Amino acid sequence: MLLLSRLHCLLAICALSRFNALAISSKRDGCAGMLATATAVAERLQSNYYNTITGEYSELWTDANTLEDIHNLMLAAGTMTWDSLADESFIGRFANVDISAVWSIVLGGSYDDAQWVILALWKMADYKATHGEDYSSFTDSATAIYDIVAAQWDNICGGGGNSVWWSSAKTYKNAITNELFLYTSALGYIRTQTQSYLDNAEMTWAWLEQSGMRNSQGLWNDGLNMTSCQNNGDTTWTYNQGVIASGLAALSRTTSNTTLLDQAEITLDATINFLTQDNILKESCDDVVSDGSTCDADEQIFKGVWTKHLQYYLDNANDTSRTAKYSPFLGSQKTAIINHAINSSNDVSSAWYAANQGGGLFSAQSAASGLAALNAAAKDCHVGSTTQNINVAGGLQTDNNGDGSGSEKSPGEPATCLN
Ligand SMILES: *[C@@H]1O[C@H](CO)[C@@H](O)[C@H](O)[C@H]1NC(C)=O
Ligand SMILES: *[C@@H]1O[C@H](CO)[C@@H](O)[C@H](O)[C@H]1NC(C)=O
Ligand SMILES: *[C@@H]1O[C@H](CO)[C@@H](O)[C@H](O)[C@H]1NC(C)=O
Ligand SMILES: *[C@@H]1O[C@H](CO)[C@@H](O)[C@H](O)[C@H]1NC(C)=O
Repeated sequence: MLLLSRLHCLLAICALSRFNALAISSKRDGCAGMLATATAVAERLQSNYYNTITGEYSELWTDANTLEDIHNLMLAAGTMTWDSLADESFIGRFANVDISAVWSIVLGGSYDDAQWVILALWKMADYKATHGEDYSSFTDSATAIYDIVAAQWDNICGGGGNSVWWSSAKTYKNAITNELFLYTSALGYIRTQTQSYLDNAEMTWAWLEQSGMRNSQGLWNDGLNMTSCQNNGDTTWTYNQGVIASGLAALSRTTSNTTLLDQAEITLDATINFLTQDNILKESCDDVVSDGSTCDADEQIFKGVWTKHLQYYLDNANDTSRTAKYSPFLGSQKTAIINHAINSSNDVSSAWYAANQGGGLFSAQSAASGLAALNAAAKDCHVGSTTQNINVAGGLQTDNNGDGSGSEKSPGEPATCLN
């Protein structure tokens, strides 16, 4: 499937870009600047936070996101700066062992973490495929992990359907685990055409839709009260508002049901309305002033995850008017990060919405969050803007899986069109 998609891209879609070479090159300079900023942040991440002995930055699930972001950047910029990272990373080392019993131990019964690892493995596989490297152990591991997660669902708090437990303790059903299962299932179907993935995606959305976890503002709360099976009213973290959208767009792409996109935008718009300050994402725990509230390490990566999954949403929605609707917002996040959050060492603080007065925190997670947002804005700079032709040749057509690559390639360069 991977190779067929790529062939399709090379033969049919990338040919279009040849007619738009001038339009593309006139846009490339601005994009190059954004990619240069993202690259500086990635270099600092690697030098300051990456442990070459263990192959880790911090912890499994945020490491998975960080690896995904670095590979998104390399795919977008057409670079191979961290070519050996996939194999040398903690996750990559296990992929190269590829025994599902080992994965069960590594994942520790955490089914949201497991799915961030799937997304990282798919992205690293796409990078490897782009460069003619063998990626089979990465996709095989993703399949093995998906099967572990898919075995964890039942109809507790069912409303007629199944949903996945947050962990093997089976004490909590929450939004993120099931939003991720919607996305990994729909994207898994796009990548493999395996019917069970599509069935799982449809059942997961049916469950989410009736779960009550989306509140009257249009935002997803954290999860369910397992006694009442009602929305528990817990925090509306930004990442929950992004991962639902990427999943719905991937499902919409397979079913051609655009109502799913409208459903996603209820939540995307609510994010912009309710989880921002001065039009910049603000986690409820973010505070630029010291001695105020503080986000923990997990929470410091959420906003970047939202931007990344908004970009994946736009890639799979493949609709220029929807892209145009959200482009300015992604650009504003990038500008805020540059103005407020990056220091002169290219570390990125956790708070983007105003100048750091000591409350912005620095960590591997906050750096990866910034990188994800810069990637999303750099991708976005090709589409939905001034030149009509950019849309024709743009990443939406050449980059269906949201890997951050697309129209920044000049004609003749290999385009990335891997599903
Ligand atoms: C969960 O729901 C039960 C039953 O309605 C209620 O008694 C309990 O207070 C709720 N728990 C929380 C933490 O809200
Ligand atoms: C499209 O998705 C919406 C939202 O979930 C749903 O209500 C509707 O039944 C779907 N349409 C079809 C034809 O499946
Ligand atoms: C995206 O949309 C365009 C025009 O609407 C269409 O020609 C193209 O095939 C679509 N691409 C995908 C991957 O669906
Ligand atoms: C930028 O932030 C990092 C993390 O706090 C710190 O180690 C570094 O010294 C800062 N750079 C400058 C120039 O202040």
